[in-house]
Amino acid sequence: MKSKPLLLTNIGQLLTLRSTATSPRRGTSLSDLAISENAAVLCLGGKIVSVGSTKEALRDPWLKKNRKKVTEIDCCGQVVLPGFVDSHTHPVFAGPRLVDFEKRIAGASYEEIAEAGGGIRSSIDGVRRASKPGLTNRVLAALDDLAKHGTTTVEAKSGYGLSFESETKSLEAILDAAKQWPGTVVPTFLGAHAVPPELRGRSQEYVDIVCQQMMPAVAKRKLARFADVFCDRGAFSADEAEQIFHAADQHGLSLRAHMGQLGETRLEPFLRYNPASLDHMDYVNDADLPTLAMSDTIATFVPGANYFLGLTRYPRARQFIEAGVAVALATDYNPGSSPTLSMPMVMSLACTHMKMSPAEAITAATINGAWALRIADRKGSIEPGKDADLAVFDVRDYREIAYWFGANHCALTILNGVAHSPPTG
Ligand code: NIG
Ligand code: FE
Repeated sequence: MKSKPLLLTNIGQLLTLRSTATSPRRGTSLSDLAISENAAVLCLGGKIVSVGSTKEALRDPWLKKNRKKVTEIDCCGQVVLPGFVDSHTHPVFAGPRLVDFEKRIAGASYEEIAEAGGGIRSSIDGVRRASKPGLTNRVLAALDDLAKHGTTTVEAKSGYGLSFESETKSLEAILDAAKQWPGTVVPTFLGAHAVPPELRGRSQEYVDIVCQQMMPAVAKRKLARFADVFCDRGAFSADEAEQIFHAADQHGLSLRAHMGQLGETRLEPFLRYNPASLDHMDYVNDADLPTLAMSDTIATFVPGANYFLGLTRYPRARQFIEAGVAVALATDYNPGSSPTLSMPMVMSLACTHMKMSPAEAITAATINGAWALRIADRKGSIEPGKDADLAVFDVRDYREIAYWFGANHCALTILNGVAHSPPTG
């Protein structure tokens, strides 16, 4: 998609998140948004080329000469921040799970529903039956909706096919949708999401298929950058998850995992593989926090899942932050536990239920999300040389982004230099 030269002026608060750090943000640096007031940003060729005051920008000799070629966007005092990096989504599914939703309202738990054949397994049929173009369209619709809420980079997992054919079809659908979307998509192979119904009770057999058949093909055809595994009670055991990590490592896929959503798994054996991120982290042994803090592995919280499953317990973000763990936030967009595409909603939950400050939530949703995908060299902050990924919010103070929950105040998103929707302000 072709980007045009863009100049954003009169930005009330520009949250640059610039820093000289070469590692993920932790501790007090999570609160450092590096805000400029009355600022401007110039984007050329899909990159940010300069960041400064509106006055300085308008005096730039190149700009003076080329003014006609540049589309100017007057932000009228609005807030501009790096586009959100949503580092955990499951967008390849055929439809919502409304029966599960009603069952949970009536009192059944996520695990009870899964044991009775609902849960992840009930999304399998739809994906297996769906055509690739049908899935591509659904993924593209989700990407567009994410962009409307300020997201410019999305990690997208397979994981509702659970057969060689349907997992590769899912990853191809992600790649096809990515080509039609101006933002950036990072594909993840999640063959180890659940044991498929035809192999029920034979999970080792399925792990072997994932490691020996699916993983080599995914790596060879470059269908994914990451491999993921759902390691938890009722899903894959720590031993099986290690087999997945080992195979992924052998095939050159980077690693991430769902961990500690329903019960505790000790993290040490996994940290040895240097995963980019461990996600959910509701149940983590205190003794693992210092080891996690010493690593560059991000702990990614997905409080949309806690909210939607009606849980009162949320990840203990304060303890993680105080221990020096680098934390990120993501939507976990999926039909079973977190059908939301809104990073601002997730940030609001992180503030109200996990006691993260609005500034910490912004860092966790931008630069640390980029670290969780190992692309912080080009995403997550507004600095010359980085990709032109910006979100304009129709608010005066950045704290309002997490404050006004349940309504979308994103006025404009710029993805790799391409403006997504017309400004409303
Ligand atoms: O991240 N925990 C595993 N996977 C998803 C839920 C998937 C589903 O229920 O469809 C999650 O919450
Ligand atoms: Fe998930």
